[in-house]
Amino acid sequence: KLQRMPKPKPLATRVALVTGAASGIGKATAEKLAAEGACVVIADLSLENAQAAAAEIGSTDVAVGVHVDVSSADAVQSMVEAAVLAFGGVDLVVNNAGLSLSRSLLETTEKDWDLQHDVMAKGSFLVAKATAKVMIEQEMGGDIVYISSKNSIFAGPNNVAYGAAKADQAHQVRLLAAELGEHGIKVNGVNPDGVVQGSGIFASGWGANRAAVYGVEEKDLGKFYAQRTILKREVLPSNIANAVFVLCSAELSHTTGLHIPVDAGVAA
Ligand code: NAI
Repeated sequence: KLQRMPKPKPLATRVALVTGAASGIGKATAEKLAAEGACVVIADLSLENAQAAAAEIGSTDVAVGVHVDVSSADAVQSMVEAAVLAFGGVDLVVNNAGLSLSRSLLETTEKDWDLQHDVMAKGSFLVAKATAKVMIEQEMGGDIVYISSKNSIFAGPNNVAYGAAKADQAHQVRLLAAELGEHGIKVNGVNPDGVVQGSGIFASGWGANRAAVYGVEEKDLGKFYAQRTILKREVLPSNIANAVFVLCSAELSHTTGLHIPVDAGVAA
């Protein structure tokens, strides 16, 4: 029996919540969704940076910054309550918060493993659970987008904990797409690769490590990644933001459980 689905709401009437949105890809995504008319909740470990990013977008009737540690169920619940208080609901969620500790298998500690899995695998689960509850109650459908990674599929050295956490996120997309479809909630993923400009991940040690692995200067890493791609283009946070926007647009109302690579093409 065919189900009657709620029609997707136009972005201009939607409330979008982006985690890890004080920096890099999350910030660009919040800016894009706001530019398309959504009210945005910028959630980040750093309240100060979240509020600064929100203020860059506009006044508190279009963008608010809130604190969250996505690895804590209580903090996630408070974030969702703040979003509902600010804008009356949640329609679109981007599971973006993340961090990469680029370490070899023998260097990876239990703490390294736990941190990356707590933030990305468990964190996205907690955020999906708390926000899907609101969306189901609203009976208006919704979108959840995971920012996973090329590393969820492809393998390279010094990546065991990060890559495994990203693969966990990628499979959550398929599992939740299957489960939440009956509520009109679409769940999709974006797999970026090599976003250097504007990304804090590269300031936090990942960049230095990768540059050393490839034998290039850190400042040349973006160009180095670009040369490896099929399109010979550097991937920017705005490229990921555009993919999120397209996945949540009315034009893709019949697409769920999909992962879009945004990596300028990876040669086999
Ligand atoms: P970024 O470091 O610029 O931004 C990450 C944000 O997440 C920061 O603002 C940070 O404060 C926040 N955050 C970290 N832990 C958190 C927590 N427990 N709770 C809430 N917020 C937290 O990084 P970037 O590059 O923008 O990455 C965003 C996402 O994209 C991450 O999930 C990353 O793994 C993924 N990604 C990035 C790629 C890249 O080349 N930069 C490639 C593939 C995936």
